[in-house]
Amino acid sequence: MPSYLFEWLSLLGRWLHIIVAMAWIGASFYFVWLDNHLLAPTDPQLKEKGVSGELWAVHGGGFYNAQKYLLTPDTIPSPLHWFKWEAYWTWLSGFFLLCVVYYSSPTLYLMDPSVANISPVQAVLIGLGSLGLGTFLYDRLCASPIGNDSRRLTLVITLLLIAAAYGYCHVYSGRGAFIHMGALMGTIMVANVFFVIIPGQRELILAKMEQRPPDPRHALRGKQRSVHNTYFTLPVVFIMISHHYAMTYAHPYNWLILIGLCFAGALIRISFVARHKGPLAKLPLIVAALLLAAVAYVLAPPTPTTTASSNKALNRVSFTQVQSIITNRCTPCHSANPTQPGFSVAPKNIQFNRAEQILSMAQPIYEQTSKRIMPLGNLTGITEEERQLIAQWATELEKK
Ligand code: HEC
Repeated sequence: MPSYLFEWLSLLGRWLHIIVAMAWIGASFYFVWLDNHLLAPTDPQLKEKGVSGELWAVHGGGFYNAQKYLLTPDTIPSPLHWFKWEAYWTWLSGFFLLCVVYYSSPTLYLMDPSVANISPVQAVLIGLGSLGLGTFLYDRLCASPIGNDSRRLTLVITLLLIAAAYGYCHVYSGRGAFIHMGALMGTIMVANVFFVIIPGQRELILAKMEQRPPDPRHALRGKQRSVHNTYFTLPVVFIMISHHYAMTYAHPYNWLILIGLCFAGALIRISFVARHKGPLAKLPLIVAALLLAAVAYVLAPPTPTTTASSNKALNRVSFTQVQSIITNRCTPCHSANPTQPGFSVAPKNIQFNRAEQILSMAQPIYEQTSKRIMPLGNLTGITEEERQLIAQWATELEKK
């Protein structure tokens, strides 16, 4: 029963997380787009009111006229919309999911004994600690003298994130490592909204109400953090969907794959924002495409012949051998009635109770075992020889 309950918590949490994240990112993209398309007003009355840009749009059967004020308007309008809850809810639902999926059963998705020998408690503490510490370090860096030089700041933050990717990939399973990288970047983004961007907006309003000029430091800091957030968006969204693509996180150099894909995302963002600013705007996009192609090349699976060539001299692997391995190592989870604690139904409805179920899945079985993704967390203790036998069997089957 508890595992069934957790399935539902995970489903509802994920549903909410995706909805609020779409609302947040959608609103951010919309405002970037808006800023890129505003035109100086022609109406002298608008200029007098302090409007620096405006645009017309049609959507959903209505016409909209957005106006941007260079400074605070004369009177603070009410109601004034802030766009902050999308960000807060994204973090809250994301943290909830992290707890439900990863921290409630660290042995499944977080730990990998072949990567590092940590206990479940250590796994959770490393996760929580690194999210807190990483966000704190980032914030102090931005606020330090380095923060005044955006190039140096970018370099240092990039190095910090590379170190985080390397570190996570050397304590956690690939999947656990990737999700923590996403959680760290996501936490930094939300902290930027909560601790810097929103307080900066509050200061603008307060200054207006107190009839004094606003402290310009707030505006500068808010701008800096907003820019960082736009760089993080694409990488974070890739990371959040990466667990569907085991080829990315299961690679032996998964930390480099992670960094490569994050860079590609950040480069695409540069082109996206600079779309209307000259022919060079396409350059980052081209570099991103080359980077993605390079990653795809590195991730390409080896041809089956090379994998099995070392085993040529061995005897053929019988199906009975493979079936007994799978019965021992896989059916505790992948069966009509799983016996592994925490599993009430077969994951992804993949079952290996009958011979034809195993035969029809030979290729995925080979992939998952050779990339060391299955058995999950190696809870059932598969050996290297057994992985080898499955590989040889699947390759022979392929050749037939
Ligand atoms: C501890 C439980 C557990 C054990 C043991 C286990 N699996 Fe899985 N398996 C899972 C879960 C959970 C998923 C779904 C993963 C996900 O959500 O991405 C899964 C998914 C899969 C998939 C589908 C992968 C995909 O992304 O489409 C295959 C194939 C698979 N397992 C094969 C195996 C094989 C082969 C073994 C034995 C060598 C095995 N599993 C042992 C829990 C387990």
